[in-house]
Amino acid sequence: MFRRFSHALIEKNLILMGVLTLITVSIGGLVQIVPLFAVETTIERVEGVRPYTPLELMGRNIYVREGCYTCHSQMVRPFRDELERYGHYSLAAESMYDHPFQWGSKRTGPDLARVGGRYSDDWHAAHLRSPRAVVPESVMPPYAFLDRPLDYRDVEYHLRGLRAVGVPYTDEMVANARLDLETQANPEMDNTAFAARYARARQGAFDGNPREVTEMDALVAYLQMLGTLVKFSDVTPDRVRQQ
Ligand code: HEC
Repeated sequence: MFRRFSHALIEKNLILMGVLTLITVSIGGLVQIVPLFAVETTIERVEGVRPYTPLELMGRNIYVREGCYTCHSQMVRPFRDELERYGHYSLAAESMYDHPFQWGSKRTGPDLARVGGRYSDDWHAAHLRSPRAVVPESVMPPYAFLDRPLDYRDVEYHLRGLRAVGVPYTDEMVANARLDLETQANPEMDNTAFAARYARARQGAFDGNPREVTEMDALVAYLQMLGTLVKFSDVTPDRVRQQ
C-alpha cells in the first residue's frame, strides 16, 4: 500500500521527481569522480615525459595561435587501424604538461601525436611554407609567413605561468629560458647545460638558418618532439602501473 502510494506521488509530481533524479545521478557521479582526486595513479607516471623546452613551448603557442588543432588531433586511440598508421596509442602522461591539451576533435589532416622524427626538419619547413609543394593533393594552408623572427622576449613568463598550474619548471629553467631557447635553435652553441635541463631535447637549425630564431624554428622544434619523449617499447600496461 505504502509503496504504491509513494511511487504514484513521485510520478505525478514533476518537481519531486526532478529532485530525486538529481540526487540519484549526483550519487552516481560522486562515486565515479571522487576516487580520482585521491588516487595518485589517475595519470600513470611514465619515464621520459618532461616539460617543453622554451623553444618547443613557443612553437606550441604558435600551433595554438594558428589553430592547427582545428585540422589535426594529437591523440592516437587504442584501435588497431590507428596503431598501424600512427604508432603506440597516446598515454595520459604525454599531455600532463599541456595547458590546454591538444587532443583535438577533427582530423582533416593526420594525427600529429607521433609525427616527431618521422620527417626531416627541411621537410617540415618546406611543407609548412607550401604544403602542396611537398604533398600535391594537400588542402593544408601555407604558413610561409612563419619565417619571420620569433618574439621571445617574454618566454620566461610563459614558463612561470605554466609553473603556476603545476608544470615542474625549476628556477634554473626559468632563469635560463632565453639562453636555452637560443641554444636549441643554433647547433653551434654549447648545449651542455641545456641538455642537462631538458632530456632528449634536440638542437637544430630547424628552419635551415641557424643565425636567426624564427617562428618556423619554434614550430618545427615542437613538431619534431611530438611522440619522441617516451620509449614505448618500455611501456607495457603492467610496468606503467608499477612506476
Ligand atoms: C585546413 C586544415 C589544416 C590546417 C589548418 C592545418 N593542416 Fe596540417 N595537414 C592538413 C592535411 C589535409 C594534411 C595531409 C596532407 C599534407 O601532408 O599536407 C596535413 C598534414 C600535416 C603534416 C604532415 C603529417 C604527416 O604525418 O604526414 C604536418 C606536420 C602538419 N600538417 C602540421 C600542421 C601545422 C603545424 C599546422 C598549423 C600551423 C597545420 N598543419 C594546419 C590539413 C591542415
